[in-house]
Amino acid sequence: MTDVDIGRDSVARVREAADILDIVGDHVRLKKRGRGWEGLCPFHEEKTPSFSVDPDKGLYYCFGCHQGGDVFKFVMQLEHLNFPETVERLARRYGVKLPPRSPETKKRREAGERQRALLEEAQRFFAGCLENAEGAEARSELDRRGFQKDSWRDFGFGFAPDDWRRLLDHMKRRHPEGALVESGLAIRPDSGTSPYDRFRNRLTFPIRSGDGTLIAFGGRQLGDGDPKYLNSPETALFRKRSTLFCLDRARRSLADSGRVLVVEGYFDCLSLHRVGVENVVATLGTALTPDHARLLKRRLGPDGLALLCYDADAAGRRAAGSGAGVLLEAGVDVAMMVLPSGMDPDDVIRESGEATFREILEHPTSLLEFLLADLPPDPAARRRSGLELATLVCSASDPAVRQNLIEELARQLYLRPREIEEHGEKRRRGAKVAAAAVRSPLPPGERELARILLECSNEWRSKILEIVHVEYIRDVRVRRLLEDTRSIVSGDDSGTDFLHELLSHCTDPDASTLVAELSTSPMPEITDDSIRVQLKTLLQRQAREGSQRLEPQIAAAEKRGDHAEVDRLLAEKTRLRRDLAEI
Ligand code: UTP
Ligand code: MN
Repeated sequence: MTDVDIGRDSVARVREAADILDIVGDHVRLKKRGRGWEGLCPFHEEKTPSFSVDPDKGLYYCFGCHQGGDVFKFVMQLEHLNFPETVERLARRYGVKLPPRSPETKKRREAGERQRALLEEAQRFFAGCLENAEGAEARSELDRRGFQKDSWRDFGFGFAPDDWRRLLDHMKRRHPEGALVESGLAIRPDSGTSPYDRFRNRLTFPIRSGDGTLIAFGGRQLGDGDPKYLNSPETALFRKRSTLFCLDRARRSLADSGRVLVVEGYFDCLSLHRVGVENVVATLGTALTPDHARLLKRRLGPDGLALLCYDADAAGRRAAGSGAGVLLEAGVDVAMMVLPSGMDPDDVIRESGEATFREILEHPTSLLEFLLADLPPDPAARRRSGLELATLVCSASDPAVRQNLIEELARQLYLRPREIEEHGEKRRRGAKVAAAAVRSPLPPGERELARILLECSNEWRSKILEIVHVEYIRDVRVRRLLEDTRSIVSGDDSGTDFLHELLSHCTDPDASTLVAELSTSPMPEITDDSIRVQLKTLLQRQAREGSQRLEPQIAAAEKRGDHAEVDRLLAEKTRLRRDLAEI
């Protein structure tokens, strides 16, 4: 990446230059409709368009799946880039020259680069140790697992010596101890004594992000000692919840085949890559997260299928059920790969051979068959337990996948598909109440408030910030908007475009989605009078809740004889009433 500054100014200039119709048009066929444009939403499956773009405001919004935002968010979501990368990508595309980095961003960037360089240096150190006399046990472990010497470099295997400070001593002339601790390679004891190496007497392997950047290490114990596998801790570069082991090696094959095999073990994954089964990833000692599922969905494309490889016991079924849930929600179909009992993929390859493994891989078990395997034979009991799966199958976001699952479950339980659907929806609604509350409806007056903030003058904004108190706002997104508005209005750029300033400010995706929704839906015009009328409900509630909240506090302060506190609370109560009167 180039050495440029992604400040407000740059963001504003790129936004100015980037044509949202052009960018969205790369992914969606848009048709003109009224003031805006319309098309099939790229974020969810649909047959009739609910995705709209407003080129004047530079915003998009989907009324079906409630995704929305500006041109930056669109590119971030669809291309899986972070904000600075998105700005740079669009700057390049539209020929906007960005100024050199500011000192702080430069510093942050350099810190990231230093950490990457440090990890690469550690990688070279570990790889070197594998070739030394002391690496003998690590080499025989690799040999036992079928990794020939000529593959070590490709997989990045290494050896961390059986010592407390070998890596630290090796690196200390070029890197301060603090940097090694920060990168996770050294541990600083709570007692404050000197740091020591995290990886000791272990066979090491690199953990890379999807684009192949070295972000962490894993290490398998040699000889005895717990735990069997040890990873780098979470660092600025490494987040387990959004990292899939070997995704960098698997990405091409994932895209080509539209299939991914998800296994549990590091060496299961590595051994499969060794024998050329390349569409394989592993989670890093965590359950499959929604981040993982979205990552896979992006790589697999439409009609993607994930094969999960879990043990066919109660624990395996639980893991499969939860993994399948997040994948189905992300729009990825799921099937199961069932291995002979007691064996993991690495065992199968080494004991029965690669051909046997491929054979099993070609004959996956359906998800429901796997999950229903231990149901009781009694029909009524079977139906009761089986219906528990209705929620899971109804959560599939791909309509075709969902339909298939519903029909299969209905067949298995001797029910009509309609009954599965009704049951699943009912349960789902119950479970989704919390999530739905984040969307609409907003508490009375808060939608109006958010809308007013977006469209009113800066004078009104300052006034509103004085009289509306954040602690009485119930919806977290509206609260965010109010807080962001404060930091923008009190800043020195009151002349800039408020809406876009807000979107660049806003780090909460739910809040920026709300902004997109409000600015693209029709609403009455904003005038001084309409603002007063619309804020009234909210201010009345604020005054009412305020006195309810303050009364007992006042009583308590009186009882204590704390007159200063009583005065303060009374003043607050008066202020709430005055705010209402003022408008
Ligand atoms: P297993 O104990 O089944 O080991 O752990 P394995 O993968 O078969 O290991 P080998 O073949 O003996 O080397 C399964 C997976 O659980 C995680 C790892 O992902 C491991 O591959 N695990 C296990 C840990 O993260 N830490 C541990 O200490 C043990
Ligand atoms: Mn194993």
